[in-house]
Amino acid sequence: MQSVASQLNQDKTPAPLTELVLTLLSASTAIAHKVRQGALAGVLGSAAQQNVQGETQKKLDVIANDILKEALLASAHVKSVASEEEDNVVPGNPSGAYVVAFDPLDGSSNIDINGQIGTIFTIYRALPDVAADSHKQFAQQGRAQVCAGYVLYGPSTQLALTTGGPSRLYTLDPHDTYQLTQAELAIAPECQEFSVNMSNLRHWSPALQGYIQSLQAGKDGVRSKDFNMRWNGAMVGDVHRVLMRGGIFLYPANTQGAVHNGKLRLLYEANPMALLVERAGGRASDGKQAILDIEPGTLHQRVPVFMGAAQEVAKLEGLV
Ligand code: AHG
Ligand code: MN
Ligand code: MN
Repeated sequence: MQSVASQLNQDKTPAPLTELVLTLLSASTAIAHKVRQGALAGVLGSAAQQNVQGETQKKLDVIANDILKEALLASAHVKSVASEEEDNVVPGNPSGAYVVAFDPLDGSSNIDINGQIGTIFTIYRALPDVAADSHKQFAQQGRAQVCAGYVLYGPSTQLALTTGGPSRLYTLDPHDTYQLTQAELAIAPECQEFSVNMSNLRHWSPALQGYIQSLQAGKDGVRSKDFNMRWNGAMVGDVHRVLMRGGIFLYPANTQGAVHNGKLRLLYEANPMALLVERAGGRASDGKQAILDIEPGTLHQRVPVFMGAAQEVAKLEGLV
């Protein structure tokens, strides 16, 4: 068995970054304990407040955010923290070498049905000449991420992590240590499974509707093969499946309605997942360019997301 600490050491990860990752992971195990206790820990249900994006927060959104924030702000390595559940950047140690952004609890609508949920995170080098409380700390392209990962609180708790090398998969053991269970994740370039919220179909561009209909046509259509469809309603679970057995995940822009730029957030959803997917040989695009090449604007900016099997995502580029 290879623990995450010893794998990072073998990967020659700088010591401060390893320490920071371990801090983050120890917070994730505290969240995993709460998740596992569920109703017994009183963590289900709504928190009776909204976040900056106007979404009603679940209790677990708030609890997970507080656990991560407290752990990271206690670390000397952290200059700034950004979160889905924080309006603005939270300053840490002004001389910290890194900044961390996270979606503390992804898949909130699955909390109360005991479905898949997770934590998505990303780490960048802190910008030395930018204040710790400035959103500009996070105005860095996804390519600049020094670490990206997620923890999936499923039947087992698993961690997918990259520090620039391969995307690796770890599983949490009974002693709260993540052990390496898959050294290199690989997404096949072609696929037979897609993942999208089909209830939005009427809101998409005609070209995208046509593409999805060509997949649905299966063997009898232009693609000459059958496609399966899966939707967990949690990006973390849907992209995990793509990393495990291939496929594509889509969260397109609507041509009308509230999510016309897409629903998913660039900083703490799209970018970390895009790095994991690319490091597993897949492709991640907003339909026009690689997600990792997007020049960020605002902290909570949304983007359309198409990621997974490289050849399939390439087909979608330019179409949407
Ligand atoms: P969050 O729970 O962090 O707000 O994110 C939910 C996101 C993402 O995880 C998922 O892919 C998507 O919302 C699901 O959206 P639908 O409501 O369209 O299923
Ligand atoms: Mn999310
Ligand atoms: Mn969330």
